[in-house]
Amino acid sequence: MDKISLCLLILVLSIFSVKGALGSSTSRLHPRTMTFLESQCKRTRYPELCVRSLSNLVNTTSQNPQILSQVALKVSLVKAVSTKYYIMKVCKEFNQINKVKNNQAAKDCLDQISDGVSHLTNSVKELQHLSLDGERAFIWHQSNVQTWLSTVLTDAYTCMEGMNNSGYAAMGGNVKAMIKAKVLNVAQLTSNALALFNGFAARHKASHHGKHKP
Ligand SMILES: *[C@@H]1O[C@H](CO)[C@@H](O)[C@H](O)[C@H]1NC(C)=O
Ligand SMILES: *[C@@H]1O[C@H](CO)[C@@H](O)[C@H](O)[C@H]1NC(C)=O
Repeated sequence: MDKISLCLLILVLSIFSVKGALGSSTSRLHPRTMTFLESQCKRTRYPELCVRSLSNLVNTTSQNPQILSQVALKVSLVKAVSTKYYIMKVCKEFNQINKVKNNQAAKDCLDQISDGVSHLTNSVKELQHLSLDGERAFIWHQSNVQTWLSTVLTDAYTCMEGMNNSGYAAMGGNVKAMIKAKVLNVAQLTSNALALFNGFAARHKASHHGKHKP
């Protein structure tokens, strides 16, 4: 699993860095693409973050709700993986420094974010299947993605709660704040990706029903 998600990360990162190197920026975005992005992001809970996190990654060809929710999921996955490695590093340092089992909250967070990486990886794959499998499998893939992303959100909030409740003696305040900030970012990006996906799925269902009306 770990190997797969790492490969996926490298793939995603390489796609993104190519785009980064092209120097695309919000201001260069085609006005029509920007309008599309803003209208899609309006349905999310964090619309500003939504626009900011996606504006460098969309273009006129990705002006499609399905592609947009796929890109949003990948952004969330990349953040989750980097957060996982950050918490891993923190846990390792704790083990070396004080060797006491005081860092349970960080260890729990590591488990939760690792599960999150798996769920996000699976969701990215599931969205790819969505286009390959027929219409009959749509509902199945849809409910998988919704279940997994909701679990990522629950786990992220459980981690942040654990950070809130853990004593400052065990963990430096800065480290705690950093873990919380990173996990919150993953949660918000995932919430946005779920909203974009739900919007796409609802529209898909509506148009599909429309086609089959007598
Ligand atoms: C536009 O975006 C899509 C999806 O993000 C990407 O596959 C494609 O290569 C991009 N095209 C250009 C010209 O950047
Ligand atoms: C953690 O504490 C902060 C500050 O008191 C609060 O705003 C936040 O909602 C708490 N988060 C969780 C997940 O309990």
